[in-house]
Amino acid sequence: MTSTEHTTETFQSLDELVSALSEGERTTYDNIIRSTNLPSSIYENFCSWSDKSYTRNCIIDTEKFELILLCWEPGQMTPIHDHGGEECWVKVISGEFRETIYQENEAGELTVVKSAVAKTNDITYMIDFMGFHSLENLSNERSMSLHLYAKPIRSCNSYDAISGEFVNKDLVYNTVSEFGTK
Ligand code: SIN
Repeated sequence: MTSTEHTTETFQSLDELVSALSEGERTTYDNIIRSTNLPSSIYENFCSWSDKSYTRNCIIDTEKFELILLCWEPGQMTPIHDHGGEECWVKVISGEFRETIYQENEAGELTVVKSAVAKTNDITYMIDFMGFHSLENLSNERSMSLHLYAKPIRSCNSYDAISGEFVNKDLVYNTVSEFGTK
């Protein structure tokens, strides 16, 4: 099978998922993430938790893509942000999230264009022409979400509710796995 033919295979391990992404191209990533149905226990090795903020745990970071596990305490949320011009897939591993999508109107004000709940195994997609989004852990338990960015996102524009303006923010990892950065 060539990388562009990937359609129906379901990955049995994280190694298989990482290999498919490494051998694949941006155009195959949607199929690849939708073919991923690994048990949530596999992701527990990558977890870290913080009372201050959701954590960003790097599973693998390459020139082509970045696969990270976000770990959320109940109620934790992202600021409203863009995706640095890259594509973003989010697969809910455990829990329930609200994704709110915003666009700027002609007056430059942010308006909500969509608000939806993503449940375990749901996949959402964002790219900058769709606008900005925020994610919030709605469940009253710790939750996990798997984020695939192509290419990796080193910084993004993040809405500062105090100034009412977007500020460019570097994105950092809380942990880096043994797959690491390549
Ligand atoms: C993040 O990567 O920190 C934000 C979550 C997202 O936009 O997918």
